[in-house]
Amino acid sequence: MAISQTNSPTNFAWATLLEVDAPEPGRRGSRLHDRLARALRTAIRDGRLTEGAAVPPSRALAEELGCSRWVVTEAYGQLIAEGYLAARVGSATRVSWSPDTAPPRPHTRPVPAPSPVRYDLAPGLPDLRAFPRRRWAEAVRSVTGSAVHYDLGLPDPAGHPVLRTTVAQYLRRSRGADAHPAAVSVCAGVTDGLVRTCRALRAEGIDDLAVEHPGWGRLRDAATSVGLRLYPVPVDHDGLRVDDLARTPARAVIVGAAHQFPTGTVLSPARRARLVRWAREVDGYVIEDDYDAEFRYDHHPVAVMQGMDPSRVFLLGSVSKTLSPALGLGWLVAPAATTPALRAANPVAAAPPVLDQLALATFIDRGWYDAHLRAARRRFRGRRDLLVRTLGAELPQARVSGTAAGLHILLHLPSGTDTPRTVRTAAAAGLRVADLDDYRVTDSADRALVLGYGNIGDTEIPAAVALLREALAARTGVRAMDA
Ligand SMILES: Cc1ncc(COP(=O)(O)O)c(C=O)c1O
Repeated sequence: MAISQTNSPTNFAWATLLEVDAPEPGRRGSRLHDRLARALRTAIRDGRLTEGAAVPPSRALAEELGCSRWVVTEAYGQLIAEGYLAARVGSATRVSWSPDTAPPRPHTRPVPAPSPVRYDLAPGLPDLRAFPRRRWAEAVRSVTGSAVHYDLGLPDPAGHPVLRTTVAQYLRRSRGADAHPAAVSVCAGVTDGLVRTCRALRAEGIDDLAVEHPGWGRLRDAATSVGLRLYPVPVDHDGLRVDDLARTPARAVIVGAAHQFPTGTVLSPARRARLVRWAREVDGYVIEDDYDAEFRYDHHPVAVMQGMDPSRVFLLGSVSKTLSPALGLGWLVAPAATTPALRAANPVAAAPPVLDQLALATFIDRGWYDAHLRAARRRFRGRRDLLVRTLGAELPQARVSGTAAGLHILLHLPSGTDTPRTVRTAAAAGLRVADLDDYRVTDSADRALVLGYGNIGDTEIPAAVALLREALAARTGVRAMDA
């Protein structure tokens, strides 16, 4: 019997149903009845086959499609079991579901591709082109082969003991930390470590947290997401102003002691000592964000504050600035007395995937991390010098500030510069830069851009700076920035 002789909709393209998901020549595809069920299900969900419509008798559809009747009865049986079709004895099988009664459909629009960036002078990223792919792949391959069965079971929420031991050694050796494996938790990065720490602080009765101003908004968001009240404390050329901090009700503060973001200042020795004393006086804590401290170009990196009083300082770090933020691997060293609260306050926080943790441990233990850092330091020192020189030559009325460290500098612009517009104009030309105002919560007359040199090639710097110069000139319409 032809389909046109049944009471099924004749304006529906029954004959093309099996064209959906058809495998490419020479490749195995899904089984025929699965493909047919999928095609019918999609047609019902899309509303092309509406509720009450009869589907053709199995023999008629099989003839139309050139397949066995069994294929069609299997597909119908599947959709009856799922509730899309209903069969009644003596009557046609009909569509029994309508999209109108279904919950709203998830977004089917494609995720927009990021706008093309020709030159990346925004802060945030390390040199993604220099990611040590070969050695990282070797570390992953090696641990995938050598992990014992036990490692593939339920992971330790505080992190794999092997990585905790390696991180503790690394932090003692290269950051002067007072770190022991029991105090180390593996987490997904500084942001995740801060969320966990803030939960522990709340459990300890601390609801007020001071943050540096200006500072990275994500850290503020992380703290408020856990319900802490924030007190912005200004940063000057010696780092966080501890006297101002002491005037807030906060009993905890997050501080980028080694290299503050975004000002690029280093917390002075006197302020470090004063800050630890403050924590003791208020029976509180310092949370040290050690995010890019491996990179110091004028002398050795300053040791972490955590070593001055491990009972008062939480230490947070990650590989986001040294390897890649895509790895999602970091650590948190907590004061011993807070460890039970930290674990209890984060009952469902999981450490990153175990094989990734073991790969990082292998990468560090084999000396590859240190070698990578040595090469990165050399590269970034040269690149920072080049950027500062080029900015000096091209934009003599702008002033660079920030310690020779980390992966960013500040570029102070003449007062009145419309920095948001400069950022937009630069972006339209394919250059990414950031406005210092984006890291502030109160107004300031100081106009500045935050420029990151992690993720730009040395040879791209002259062209990037030329685009920046054009963006600034487009703003003013005058030649104020000309040499
Ligand atoms: C101030 C600051 N802290 C920490 C981080 C690193 O955060 P995470 O380890 O969560 O990637 C960044 C990254 O941009 C940062 O700017």
